[in-house]
Amino acid sequence: MTDTHTRAVRARRIHFDYPEGGLDRHYVQGDLVMSHLVAYLSSTFPEGEDFFVRSVRHYADQITDPVLKEQVKGFVGQEVTHGREHTALNARLQQMGYPTRLNERLTRMALRWDERTFSPLTCLAMTAALEHFTAVLAESLLGDEDAQALLGATEVRKMLLWHAYEESEHRAVAFDVYRAVGGSERRRIWTMRLVSSTFAGSVVISTALSLFRDRAAYNPVRLARSVWSLRRSPFVKPAVRRRIRQYFTVGFHPNDVDNTDLLNRWQPELFGETGQLAANMRR
Ligand SMILES: [Fe+2]
Ligand SMILES: [Fe+2]
Repeated sequence: MTDTHTRAVRARRIHFDYPEGGLDRHYVQGDLVMSHLVAYLSSTFPEGEDFFVRSVRHYADQITDPVLKEQVKGFVGQEVTHGREHTALNARLQQMGYPTRLNERLTRMALRWDERTFSPLTCLAMTAALEHFTAVLAESLLGDEDAQALLGATEVRKMLLWHAYEESEHRAVAFDVYRAVGGSERRRIWTMRLVSSTFAGSVVISTALSLFRDRAAYNPVRLARSVWSLRRSPFVKPAVRRRIRQYFTVGFHPNDVDNTDLLNRWQPELFGETGQLAANMRR
């Protein structure tokens, strides 16, 4: 077994603060589209991560591998903490004028519908698929200085770096649970098709609706500039799109791309005594 398969996953005690007036209205470097898009993604996390936890926990008793059992505990702890921290950010974003409360509610309704409609195994496959999206986006952020520069120097940047780190750390857990309980490749790949089209659609529509409620977006030059700059976004580079598509290959595993160096590099940078998150860690 390789290092990545036996990696210890554990939740960290950490907290982020968004004091009133601490963030600009367009907190992603003044960029309209990115500010609304990140707000939308943030509003899907608390309910989305609850859904991931429920899907994985459903099968927790069937896991016999002691390493995976421990990783599941760490996964649950990390996702619960992410949900809590995104809820706090969403409350601040709501006060700043973003429709995060509405989007949290819509996400909850959509996921409850999924749970009523699909089997627990398909819900687990959906979790593994969405975890692939988050892991690829997370590793694009951690591995690309252009992506980090895009986030400026706010508390939101610090929070997203922490979230990205832990997503990369636990990226294979839901996938391994799916495999361990006998999930087929066929179901995994079909579910990814379903998830990728609905996920992309919901991001585009919800970001557009969110912009629609923002007066600043009625400045055509500013809006056009922001939309135009998306094509140079580090998150839609061909390499990123290629990595998303790897999931469609039969035999794919999240650890096919080694992230050991990436995590080893960021560990002291974020969580070390003098790391970027030293003040946020509860020791
Ligand atoms: Fe998460
Ligand atoms: Fe995750």
